[in-house]
Amino acid sequence: MDAAENDLLTRIGPGTRMGALLRRHWMPIAGASEFEESRVKPVRLMGEDLVLYKDLSGNFGLVERACAHRRADLSYGFVEKCGLRCNYHGWAYDQTGQCVEMPYEDTVAAKAKYKDKVKILAYPVKVHAGLVWTYMGPLPAPELPDWEPFSWANGFRQIIISEIPCNWLQCQENSIDPVHFEWMHTNWSRRQTDIEAELGPKHAKVGFDSFDYGLIYRRQREDLPEDHSMWTVGRVALWPNCFFLGDHFEWRVPIDDENTLSVSWVFSRVPHESEPYIQEVIPAWRGPITDPETGRWISTHVINQDFIAWVGQGRIADRTKERLGLSDRGIQMLRRQLLDDIEAMEAGQDPKGIIRDPAINQAIELPVAEREVLTKGMSLAEFKAHPVFSKHLERFMFQAGQPPEVWQAYCEAMGTAGAPAIDDRKVIEI
Ligand code: FES
Ligand SMILES: [Fe+2]
Repeated sequence: MDAAENDLLTRIGPGTRMGALLRRHWMPIAGASEFEESRVKPVRLMGEDLVLYKDLSGNFGLVERACAHRRADLSYGFVEKCGLRCNYHGWAYDQTGQCVEMPYEDTVAAKAKYKDKVKILAYPVKVHAGLVWTYMGPLPAPELPDWEPFSWANGFRQIIISEIPCNWLQCQENSIDPVHFEWMHTNWSRRQTDIEAELGPKHAKVGFDSFDYGLIYRRQREDLPEDHSMWTVGRVALWPNCFFLGDHFEWRVPIDDENTLSVSWVFSRVPHESEPYIQEVIPAWRGPITDPETGRWISTHVINQDFIAWVGQGRIADRTKERLGLSDRGIQMLRRQLLDDIEAMEAGQDPKGIIRDPAINQAIELPVAEREVLTKGMSLAEFKAHPVFSKHLERFMFQAGQPPEVWQAYCEAMGTAGAPAIDDRKVIEI
């Protein structure tokens, strides 16, 4: 790859071609439950400084951060019944960014209707599956994808959000990288605990396919048969910036060229004994990425290990210096597809993964290796005896820093309340 192509694929600010492409897709930007207490938050997305708020009517709004009047910071504004009011001179804006009140002007020169002429930038916001989503592209907006796990019943769901100091593309390339599991997760985890530990099974082969909503990778380990779901079903690089693994999604949402918001949505099927299980509020928590004691990146949990790979590649990975190998065929497919998408978009077509038909957009089916367990469930005894799912009963494996109250709510949902929590600083064994 030359430097120009690397720039093309990684730069996502306003006016860039890749930025225009990503703006064609809905992006999850927060957990809805984060707005119970603090209702106004500054957010930076795609290189734009914005404010996300939930007003007193319960509606979310996303507007530019600088007030139209004299540029005060609207993230210090306050919400009202409909919209957000600047804390400096009280100008108020609705969800569309329209100024709806200018207290002094309205008092002394109401007839001038100055407020009608003032509008700030605003983006549509929707809440779905406990996530707050926005669409920053040209209207009309496409459908907000309704992936099937969002409506699976009897699940404990949680949302984890972290800010990662590197470009979005190297994060997403990890979604189509099967061999890293063997080294980054299995072998490195073992050797972090015991430097002489046996290495895990090798990969015998990997395969890559394309489908309507992304790319799929399949991997076969030497110790597993070819009819294992890792080979027959695989995992999904969900288009354009998500990784879907059956029981969880990981989006990589660009904050700007050098920072990415990692947003994970995790579904844990409760045992039959806990049915029917209805979760009123989906907890959302912020996952730390550095160890305050050592100042190093946290390396104990699966997704934290991925973060280390991504940030290690530099703020924006220099792809002119890479030496790609046979395991990187998926990486090349992903880059090729993004370039094709840019061309399609510039030719006036919808890029890959855009859904316009509401009839299609209903619990869209995705490849799910553990579909049986996740949808039909099992008894608690079966969960405890299961080689993979039993591990999830012991601790939260995906990311470090889960608040104790979320672990407790999970255990109550699973019917394992009272089980001792394992030290979060211990390396996960895979
Ligand atoms: S700067 Fe916002 S009202 Fe004056
Ligand atoms: Fe990984």
